[in-house]
Amino acid sequence: MRIEVLTIFPEMFDSPIKSSLLGKARDAGILEINVTDIRDFATDKHRTVDDTPFGGGAGMVMKAEPIDRALEKIAEGLENPRILLTSASGRKFDQKMANELSREESIIIICGRYKGVDERVLELHPIEEVSIGDYVLSGGEVAALTMIEAVARLIPGYMGKIEAGENDAFAWGILGFPNYTHPQEYKGLKVPDVLVSGHHAKIDSFRRRSALKKTLQNRPELLEKIELSDTDKKFLEEIKNENK
Ligand code: ADE
Repeated sequence: MRIEVLTIFPEMFDSPIKSSLLGKARDAGILEINVTDIRDFATDKHRTVDDTPFGGGAGMVMKAEPIDRALEKIAEGLENPRILLTSASGRKFDQKMANELSREESIIIICGRYKGVDERVLELHPIEEVSIGDYVLSGGEVAALTMIEAVARLIPGYMGKIEAGENDAFAWGILGFPNYTHPQEYKGLKVPDVLVSGHHAKIDSFRRRSALKKTLQNRPELLEKIELSDTDKKFLEEIKNENK
């Protein structure tokens, strides 16, 4: 997969894309990430990328021209790239979208800043606005990195034995189950017996029940979106009764 990032702060990507699994995936050739400075496509000597909004009001708007020029240059070598613009006003990014994007050949992510981008850029290019959550960031760079990390780890070959996607939160449509590692007892707290029993069916059942419990506590609305088995329903009844 190839990811092209357009930003006015390219240095914000240096360390994250060199480190950790992202860096390894790049070195292994599974993932190509290029970062382009939008200022390189400005047309004046001050390399201006923003200006005041027509109609007045506070804040600055990212100019259409530098982004349009950068997009035209970058899209040249790509066949049907998905073009995303980070924006608090976008469609909400989630695991489903991460899965969908992980199957793309190429993605271009434009990092919005200030009040946003001149709307004409969205008329000139098939751009999807994407938000990582209902809060406002100063810019889209961290949002872009969030999406890159979530998408990259789903590319086949990215995750080795170090991480296994099948146990992720959301892999079942609900939150993840709690995990424990050595030592078996810490400050008087023991790892649940079932996890050291070697009984795989019981371990699976314990994990499913724990994941349902965490989901009921932290994100109950997710339970309405998945199909619950009879055993799930029984577990949830028990959990609700425990809490009474
Ligand atoms: N830019 C500002 N806020 C944002 C958000 N929540 N998601 C994506 N980009 C943003």
